[in-house]
Amino acid sequence: MAPSPEQVTAALATVNDPEIRRPITDLDMIKSVDISPDGVVRVGVYLTVAGCPLKDRITRDVTEAVSKVDGVTRVQVELDVMSEEQRKGLQTKLRGERGPEKEIPFAKPGSLTRVFAVASGKGGVGKSSVTVNLAAAMASQGLKVGVVDADIYGHSVPRMLGVGERPTKVEDMIMPPVAHDIKVISVGMFKPEGNSPVVWRGPMLDRALYQFLTDVYWGDLDVLLMDLPPGTGDIAISVAQRLPTAEILVVTTPQQAAAEVAERAGSIAAQTHQQIAGVIENMAWLPCPHCDERIAVFGEGGGQAVADALTRTLGARVPLLGQVPIDMRLREGGDEGKPLVLTDPDAPAAAELRRIAAGLSKKSTSLKGLKLDISPVRR
Ligand SMILES: Nc1ncnc2c1ncn2[C@@H]1O[C@H](COP(=O)(O)OP(=O)(O)OP(=O)(O)O)[C@@H](O)[C@H]1O
Ligand SMILES: [Mg+2]
Repeated sequence: MAPSPEQVTAALATVNDPEIRRPITDLDMIKSVDISPDGVVRVGVYLTVAGCPLKDRITRDVTEAVSKVDGVTRVQVELDVMSEEQRKGLQTKLRGERGPEKEIPFAKPGSLTRVFAVASGKGGVGKSSVTVNLAAAMASQGLKVGVVDADIYGHSVPRMLGVGERPTKVEDMIMPPVAHDIKVISVGMFKPEGNSPVVWRGPMLDRALYQFLTDVYWGDLDVLLMDLPPGTGDIAISVAQRLPTAEILVVTTPQQAAAEVAERAGSIAAQTHQQIAGVIENMAWLPCPHCDERIAVFGEGGGQAVADALTRTLGARVPLLGQVPIDMRLREGGDEGKPLVLTDPDAPAAAELRRIAAGLSKKSTSLKGLKLDISPVRR
């Protein structure tokens, strides 16, 4: 017996738009459903834009979901594109959830999204690697996670997470690509073709950041991680102004010189009244390939030194959250777009990053809605 339209609709309701991550039936993406007596079901689907990079995925997901309905012998998916008006309608619908005004959802009082800005003084200490691995670990723990690559010059996050495509636009709303269950937005996605370096000054950086935070459809996030460029530049100040509740995660190597610069980057928090979630020491040691020894390639003690110095400056305890050893596979995972915490979760570096991620997300529940008012100690 041929399936009923209700059965088919129920099956379609299980298909999420891969970018907006809501049922396609809620997004007015179903154009038509025709069921013939011999069980052939034809589904018309509206894509948000022509050339939607995810059309194969949607076709596959719809086919798979409808095929499971009793009595269905074959599924045909016909794609169409939303009209201007339909797109506007969808935009209004999605906007409705975040109010009519352009605003940064994470800066609103009562926002439950925990925002972490990953900062360092020196470049190359592993901020981006730490960001993507923490994001992947948190997503695999079931949290809804977004990443903003705010490193306008470096923007290495898309490669490290294996996202290539440009985000889809619905009117002036931007749908972030999703990789490993993480929503990812990077300035690299907005650059013109080619690899021309981006030379942006403070106001433009600020505008780009504001756009990431307002025009991107993030949906409900538990955690937003922002990969900042190294140093204490314009973007760090923009973040502090736009998202005063963002907590800073300081990444350093064990090297004393790196630690001193990291401390300087962290102590901006004292001026901007931001919280510091803690310090992560990366490249903490190299496990000897032949014995159990730890080789202190970059020296020792930098992470703890930064945590102690920031504790003194801020007058509030800044913990050393963890020490991530050097692991070649972590670098390889970054090059291949596959975070180590997913490909080899038991590797010591991955286990440590997962432990740090779990600690950060645990704190998130107990501190939800609670703003600690820490004032800097005057010097
Ligand atoms: N624990 C680690 N073990 C091995 N390689 C690592 C580790 N952490 C980072 N790397 C590698 O070191 C290099 C620099 O790391 P990454 O790009 O994450 O640093 P960054 O602080 O974001 O740099 P930038 O300042 O340029 O943005 C990368 O090639 C990365 O793969
Ligand atoms: Mg980086």
